[in-house]
Amino acid sequence: MTTPHLPRQNTLFLSPQDVANIVGRVGLAATLHGMATYIRQDFLRWQDFDKSARLAAHSPDGVIELMPIADANTYTFKYVNGHPKNTALGLPTVMAFGVLADVASGFPLLISELTLTTALRTAVTSAVAALELARPGSRVMALIGNGAQSEFQALAFHHLVGIKEIRLFDVDAGASAKLLRNLQNNPDAASMRVVLCNSTAEAVRGSDIVTTVTADKTNATIITPDMLTAGLHINGVGGDCPGKTEIHADVLRAAKVFVEYEPQTRVEGDLQQMGADFGVTELWQVLAGNKTGRDNDTQITFFDSVGFAMEDFSALRYVHDLAQSLQIGAAIPLIPTLADPKDLYQLIKPATPIKVASSAGATGRAPTARDALETTA
Ligand SMILES: NC(=O)c1ccc[n+]([C@@H]2O[C@H](COP(=O)([O-])OP(=O)(O)OC[C@H]3O[C@@H](n4cnc5c(N)ncnc54)[C@H](O)[C@@H]3O)[C@@H](O)[C@H]2O)c1
Repeated sequence: MTTPHLPRQNTLFLSPQDVANIVGRVGLAATLHGMATYIRQDFLRWQDFDKSARLAAHSPDGVIELMPIADANTYTFKYVNGHPKNTALGLPTVMAFGVLADVASGFPLLISELTLTTALRTAVTSAVAALELARPGSRVMALIGNGAQSEFQALAFHHLVGIKEIRLFDVDAGASAKLLRNLQNNPDAASMRVVLCNSTAEAVRGSDIVTTVTADKTNATIITPDMLTAGLHINGVGGDCPGKTEIHADVLRAAKVFVEYEPQTRVEGDLQQMGADFGVTELWQVLAGNKTGRDNDTQITFFDSVGFAMEDFSALRYVHDLAQSLQIGAAIPLIPTLADPKDLYQLIKPATPIKVASSAGATGRAPTARDALETTA
């Protein structure tokens, strides 16, 4: 029996260039604001989601993760990797794609690139969190790790949080030079001052916020207690996998710590260094007004970001809506169209029936597969 409401259509495919075209048509600032609205909306209906920690396949140099989530109407998943040594091979550290599907039928409505989209959604989530957790009036941010994610962090904090000065440091001076080039003479960063620093400590000095977005599969200590000043907000993005941390454990002890989805962050975040009884607050509780964020202007706050499936759900919803309204992307026949949905075999059924030769045949020997092919040809 066929179900009348079943979607019978192609799947929309969005390439990285398609997503870049969406950003170009909408404008970067409006894209960041729009995505922030979708992310906030979804965090505010936290209870509507079927949530789980992502499934990770670890290897010595990296991780490949699947991130599923669903509400009553929409299911999404993201495939994403994290291989810090990739850049030496000419590949990005982080590469991703994902699917948005109709829960009622299971039909995949969208298959999209998520490499560029992940950089946007991560930066927007960081900014959404900082708006709740950083001191009001924060204007200076240190940005440690100047690779693929860094421009997005700088621009999201500029447009959404009001950051006016970015202080850069990376162990690779070439990465910082690239970030400086991308922000200079850029109309999206026109009123932002960019300062190159010689060390993390120098970059952090005088900053209201510090964002760490480094990639190294090790227990690094990028931010140490001696760098802390009263009221600092730390946005830790690169410590997102077991055995891969950025923040010294004593910094966590000195801070009020916020997470996306506690069961996942306990395993993957900088929080992995702390005992199971170390208290944290989930961001959605602060956004919903159930729990306080920063308690006072001198408190150290730390957003231990690892990336949660709900942010990709919001981002996929956002690019899907924009792609449809702007008519960007390609319709691809990912799922077969069948005259009779119970007759999948029709797709591979030979056009004409195979005539089977008689047991001895004209050759006087048993028929071979070649004989069968020649008979049909
Ligand atoms: N939390 C999230 O939602 C989320 C999302 C995307 C990426 N990430 C993580 O963000 C990190 C950065 O990703 P990317 O795509 O920009 O990677 P990338 O490889 O392009 O850049 C990382 C940069 O960090 C620098 N670095 C490494 N160790 C450093 C140190 N000790 N001090 C200063 N700089 C250092 C490297 O030289 C490099 O330039 C990765 O660890 C990735 O897994 C997290």
